[in-house]
Amino acid sequence: MRDPAATAALLDWYDAHARRMPWRVGPDARRQGVRPDPYRVWLSEVMLQQTTVAAVTAYFERFTALWPTVADLAAAPDEAVMGEWAGLGYYARARNLLKCARAVVADHGGRFPDTREALLTLPGIGPYTASAIAAIAFNRSATVVDGNVERVMARRYAVLTPLPEAKPELTALAEALTPEARPGDYAQAVMDLGATICTPRSPACGICPWQEGCAGRLQGIAADLPRKTPK
Ligand code: ADE
Repeated sequence: MRDPAATAALLDWYDAHARRMPWRVGPDARRQGVRPDPYRVWLSEVMLQQTTVAAVTAYFERFTALWPTVADLAAAPDEAVMGEWAGLGYYARARNLLKCARAVVADHGGRFPDTREALLTLPGIGPYTASAIAAIAFNRSATVVDGNVERVMARRYAVLTPLPEAKPELTALAEALTPEARPGDYAQAVMDLGATICTPRSPACGICPWQEGCAGRLQGIAADLPRKTPK
């Protein structure tokens, strides 16, 4: 269900408490309408697949110092890129990274396409990454759902259905709250909420911008959600 007051409360919290990351635009610039560089958003999202923000930050800084634009990365020798990737793991990601950079240069004039559909045609860009780039870099109305977002939605709406069965329901709930105006900030706000307050264990409900409307908290079951089907 739509809930503009809840969305607004979350965005206010994000404006005050967003985690600083080198691929994000700070609050002052954001207010002036500055958008993050799609290349940096793409690179960060690929690096963040299966890797934490803390581990990614130094790699991101090195990559963007060596290759400030997608054209620079596309022109880099394979061995240089694979060498810089060493330590991040999942090396298929690095090979796809290069393929994608070269496709952006060869097929799109060196500019990332600005719709989810067009982004999906690029090597290594799946539904999650396409939505993240479309929302964060291009302000498109796309909903980004990762494990943090699933946990926040399961708690806010006290969804008792276990994962992975609950995925479509949790995605629909996250979609319904997505604002027209700031879909990328909303996506990152839910991720930050999940990473810093609505944590897997011992969530800090007392400082949560959504504490009043959270069915999981009101029912005393927030920390037990989401449920998971045993493997
Ligand atoms: N995890 C993946 N993408 C992220 C982002 N943009 N902000 C915070 N955490 C993330």
